[in-house]
Amino acid sequence: TQNDASVSQSQAGQGVKHFLHIDDYDNKTIMNILERAAEVKAKLKSGDRSFKPFAGKTMAMIFTKPSMRTRVSFETGFHLLGGHAIYLGPDDIQLGKREETRDIARVLSGYNDVIMARLFAHKDLIDLAKFGSVPVINGLTDYNHPCQIMADALTIIEHKGYIDNIKVVYVGDGNNVVHSWLRFAAVVPIHFVCACPRGFEPDPTTVEQARAKGAKIDIVNDPMEAVKGADVIYSDVWASMGQKEEAALRMQRFQGFQVNEKMMEQAGPQVLFMHCLPAERGVEVTDGVIEAPNSIVFPQAENRMHAQNAVMLHVLGA
Ligand code: CP
Repeated sequence: TQNDASVSQSQAGQGVKHFLHIDDYDNKTIMNILERAAEVKAKLKSGDRSFKPFAGKTMAMIFTKPSMRTRVSFETGFHLLGGHAIYLGPDDIQLGKREETRDIARVLSGYNDVIMARLFAHKDLIDLAKFGSVPVINGLTDYNHPCQIMADALTIIEHKGYIDNIKVVYVGDGNNVVHSWLRFAAVVPIHFVCACPRGFEPDPTTVEQARAKGAKIDIVNDPMEAVKGADVIYSDVWASMGQKEEAALRMQRFQGFQVNEKMMEQAGPQVLFMHCLPAERGVEVTDGVIEAPNSIVFPQAENRMHAQNAVMLHVLGA
């Protein structure tokens, strides 16, 4: 199942560190990675390009889905830190179809120092980590999106000055982004609320496991009530790739879940708006909300690169 996802650090072959799920790591490690992200970001933003920890290293990037942010942020980040990233799209590689994932894992491990994978099937990610001999970084699966939440956390810290005990209210579908927020809440003490239509709740096992680790989580169906006092309102598209055939049905079911000016006002003046992008303006969020001064979606998108740089430094021991 998606939840036997734990090729945890202890199970990883030859002591290889992967980045598959946030709660494979403890609070100290996650906060250290975020601190490192801020340090390396400051260096890059100052124009200092002398830090080249990935010099002589290569990264294979596997994409079974189209992507702008994930591809450009990983490729640019690895390049800026001295390495060379190789893009492998659906025409280059077909996990589990033309070639078995366990074979691909071993072949790519022979050429590269690290593998980044953005996949449809979470089980393929687990197989890459199981059978490869180099670190595997999860660039998104149908189950979770941990690099996105690392970027989100970095952005929240930059704008609020802290992250502990903040209230994040996600409004929309209980999807892969939500699963990573749930796992983040199992490690970092935040209050995470998922306000979704009935039938679109996140995976109950993930909720249960996060709560068992002490996460403060509420799964609710009334977004206007949920957002009261929120530090962050977070949204995502209502129908992802692979769900387009049910998009019309989803449009009906998600009525009342649009993040609009009224919802932001209900939250209070402290609230920030976040979205992992791409956004469908006028659907899950209004143009006015995304363009408002308390929208931090573009710093959030930029931080994909900075957070991932620190994740890569961590798994490569650099
Ligand atoms: N947020 C995100 O993963 O964006 P892309 O689909 O553009 O990679």
